[in-house]
Amino acid sequence: MMRSIERELLAWIVGTLLLGSALVAMTTYVVTLDEMNEVFDNDLRNVAVGVATYHRSNAPHEQAHAPVLIPRDDEPQDSEIATFAWDASGTLIYSSDPRVPIRYVAKEGLSHPRIGNEDWIVYTAVHDRGIVQAAQRRASRREMAGESAAKILPFLLAMAVVVAGLLIYGLRRGLRPLDAAARDVAGRSARSLEAIDTSAVPAELLPMVRAINSLMAKLDQSFSAQRTFLADAAHELRTPIAALRLQLTLLERSADELERSAATASLKLGVMRAQRLIGQLLAVARTDPAGSLDPLQRVDLDDLVRTVLEPFASAAEAAGIDLGAELQGPAPVLGDTGQLAMLLDNLIENALRHTPAGGVVDVGTAMDDGRPVLFVRDSGPGIPAADRERVFGRFVRRDVNGNGNGGGGGDVGSGLGLTIVKAIAERHGATVRLMDRAQGPGLEVRVRFPVAAPASGANAAALRQDS
Ligand SMILES: Nc1ncnc2c1ncn2[C@@H]1O[C@H](COP(=O)(O)OP(=O)(O)OP(=O)(O)O)[C@@H](O)[C@H]1O
Ligand SMILES: [Mg+2]
Repeated sequence: MMRSIERELLAWIVGTLLLGSALVAMTTYVVTLDEMNEVFDNDLRNVAVGVATYHRSNAPHEQAHAPVLIPRDDEPQDSEIATFAWDASGTLIYSSDPRVPIRYVAKEGLSHPRIGNEDWIVYTAVHDRGIVQAAQRRASRREMAGESAAKILPFLLAMAVVVAGLLIYGLRRGLRPLDAAARDVAGRSARSLEAIDTSAVPAELLPMVRAINSLMAKLDQSFSAQRTFLADAAHELRTPIAALRLQLTLLERSADELERSAATASLKLGVMRAQRLIGQLLAVARTDPAGSLDPLQRVDLDDLVRTVLEPFASAAEAAGIDLGAELQGPAPVLGDTGQLAMLLDNLIENALRHTPAGGVVDVGTAMDDGRPVLFVRDSGPGIPAADRERVFGRFVRRDVNGNGNGGGGGDVGSGLGLTIVKAIAERHGATVRLMDRAQGPGLEVRVRFPVAAPASGANAAALRQDS
């Protein structure tokens, strides 16, 4: 069954009321019994003493005859007070209930003997010619106390029912604003993410409604960011595709082999550019902060550098660039290997693209204040300080018209590389810094991770950065 606040509250309150009723009835029983004991004990004494007075005054007359039990002509009742008179020799001379096998005990006062197999309360009045006993079953007192407790139970139960009814009514009334809020949300279109009106929401529900509102605000932001991205992406795709069409036309019109091969070459470049753009767009989509990360693993940055660097070796050699690794021993971080490889890939690509022949690109790791650092350093033109913020933006390219080695007509950049680098770094709790190369002109990119990963992959989730 679904959980319901109404049912739960009702169960608790009605349960409490029933328990309370039972307690009241029990208390009534105990208190009544106590009162009754006092009153009836007194009665027993009065009866015993009264009957004793009678027997003493009639004693001379009784002694003239042999003791004889005066029979009763009605049935004695269990609830009544029974009286017994004995003479001084211990002979029973009167019994109001001959069924009761009471014994002669000449001791003044109250006693609680067991007679037959019942508990009794007996008052014994001793006088100079015998004793008188007034006796009552303990069970009959209990019965009377039980009856008076039972009498108040129906009232208590009726009260429980009335209170429960009032509660249901009150609760339904109190929860009505929630229905209104639910109707408000249900009646909306998928695109309408305005906040729920909180003016009529009761205080208890306010935190929840506020949380929903803040979630909707975040959704709204992320929707509009996606819309902008989609529009930008479509815009960016249009350019290389228009170029492709143009180059195709040129190819068709080429008169000789020379023209044809020139057209084919630029067509090839155009296709590469479009391919690169689509690949980078896909990467951006994968690094979306709302998307899911693969489970974080312990990744050694040294291993990562070795693996990612290798495929670049021949291209670097062909471009006359000295591509080297500076590894400082294990630099463990918690991360997603695939995404970290994508990050490093983009940085190395940028460095190689902007470094002129004869230049140097160093890729390496370091420990800085207990934090693992990944760096890529090149001897290219670098990025002026004023532009270091801007280049992380989507589709931002500084060198469309050629700047450095790979610029100009050969540039297939889409302006998304550093966007991807930053997004991946942020998902790993890392920061990216662009700085001047210390040993001369060039750029150094440093990605600084949070504290080194513990030996066993402990609290990986702690590293996840939710926006
Ligand atoms: N190592 C570098 N040296 C000089 N300039 C750089 C370097 N790395 C990046 N830049 C500049 O920053 C800009 C943005 O780089 P980013 O990697 O985001 O895009 P891209 O390389 O042009 O395209 P993509 O990487 O998406 O193919 C580049 O156009 C370039 O001008
Ligand atoms: Mg790039």
